[in-house]
Amino acid sequence: MFRRIKYKNEADFEKLRQSAHVVAVTLAEVAKCIKPGVPLLYLDQIGEQCIRDHHAVPSFKGYEGYPASLCLSVNDVVVHGIPKQGDYLTDGDIISVDCGALLNGFHGDFAYTFAVGEVAEDVRLLMERTKQSLNEAIKVAVAGKTVGDIGYTVESYVGQFNYGVVRELCGHGIGRDMHERPDVCNYGRPNTGDRLQHGMCICIEPMITLGKRNIYMENDGWTIRTKDHKPAAHYEHQMIITDKGTEVISSYKLIGEVLGTTELY
Ligand code: MF3
Ligand code: CO
Repeated sequence: MFRRIKYKNEADFEKLRQSAHVVAVTLAEVAKCIKPGVPLLYLDQIGEQCIRDHHAVPSFKGYEGYPASLCLSVNDVVVHGIPKQGDYLTDGDIISVDCGALLNGFHGDFAYTFAVGEVAEDVRLLMERTKQSLNEAIKVAVAGKTVGDIGYTVESYVGQFNYGVVRELCGHGIGRDMHERPDVCNYGRPNTGDRLQHGMCICIEPMITLGKRNIYMENDGWTIRTKDHKPAAHYEHQMIITDKGTEVISSYKLIGEVLGTTELY
C-alpha cells in the first residue's frame, strides 16, 4: 500500500515532546526496579501504571495483538520480548526495555538496554558501542541527509568491532501512527533512500549482536532471538527534524539519574 510521509507542524511537535516525556519517565521508573530476581511481569506492570498515571495509553498493548505494555528483551532476545509468568532477571543479564506511549493522538517510542548487576566485559562493550552507534547516527540525522546516511553510519560504526547488524527490523517514522514512513534501517549507502526534511519525526533503533546478525522469530509470533544465542543490544531514540536542526525528544537524562551516569540525550 502506498503511504506518504506525514509531516508535522509545531503543534504536533509539542505533542510528540509530551508523549516522549511520558516514555522517559516510564523508562526511568522501570530502571529503578532493574536488579537480579525481579519478575519481568512486574516491570511491565510498573511501566503500564506509569504510562497511565500520565493519562497516556501504552502504544504497544494490543498493537497487532501484542499482549504487554513493554517489550522486555533479555540477552539473546533482540527485540519484542514478551514478559511472561516465571521470567526473572538474573545477575549478568542485559535487558532491552522498549516503551511506547500514546498521548493527545501522538506516540512516543524509545528504548534502552540495561545491565543487570555485573555483566561480562564483552557484553558491556556491546551495549556501550551500540549506544554510541545511535549517537553517531543522530549526528547525521539532519534535514538534507537521507535514511541511507543513517544506516551507513550505524553499520560502519559497529562494523569496526565485528558486531552483527540486524537487518530484518528497522527504525521508522512516528506520529499519529507508531510506525510511519520512512523506514530507517541500520544499514545502507550514503545519499540513498528517503531524504530527511523539516516536519519529520523519526525513531532510530540499532539492534546489534555480539555474534552473527542472523535472527529467528519464536512461535509466539513476536520474540526475536539471535540464531547463535549470543546477546544483542538495542537502543532507540526519537527525534524531530527541522530546518533549524534536529531535536532529540527522547531523553535518557532521567535514566542516567537512576543509573548514576551522565547521558548525552
Ligand atoms: N518499539 C517497537 C518499534 O520501535 C515496537 C514494538 S512492537 C509492539 O518498532 F508490538 F510491541 F508494539
Ligand atoms: Co520504534
